[in-house]
Amino acid sequence: MVARHVRFKINGRERDVVIDTRLLLVDAIRETFGLTGTQRCGLAGCSGACTVLVNDWPVFSCLMLAVSADRASIRTVEGFRCDDGDLHPLPRAFIEHCPSQCGHCTPGMLMSAMALLESNPRPTREDVRRGLAGNICRCTGYSNVIDAVMTAAQHMHAAREVNAR
Ligand code: FES
Repeated sequence: MVARHVRFKINGRERDVVIDTRLLLVDAIRETFGLTGTQRCGLAGCSGACTVLVNDWPVFSCLMLAVSADRASIRTVEGFRCDDGDLHPLPRAFIEHCPSQCGHCTPGMLMSAMALLESNPRPTREDVRRGLAGNICRCTGYSNVIDAVMTAAQHMHAAREVNAR
């Protein structure tokens, strides 16, 4: 085994670790850091369930070596807690709109949706469809997911308006 010292910022917290250079990012997140919300895809990159944000970009963490993310800022689904302990509007909208079946796809959908809303705060339904194109749900359709992202966009916009006053 070849090991290397790497440093990540995960959900705002600095972490220094020595890891096997062959370790996938998804396995580092789940096994080294214990953040098991990020799901493994059945086959590498096949469903987007492993999506996390690396320096604000959505990436399939089962297609990236953990050492490639050295010094990066990584966000996972566990990072959705607000500073006041409340739940972020995006997962709240998913709870409201998406009666989950197995839920395997949800963490990856949330991370892709977050990346979309950060780059495009007022998306159209078509924008949402395109933004989540890499995330596959094998249990349900996608209309409820799009409804959830549109609702979250409205709530996040309203919160920005209040904060701007
Ligand atoms: Fe099962 Fe989406 S709810 S894969």
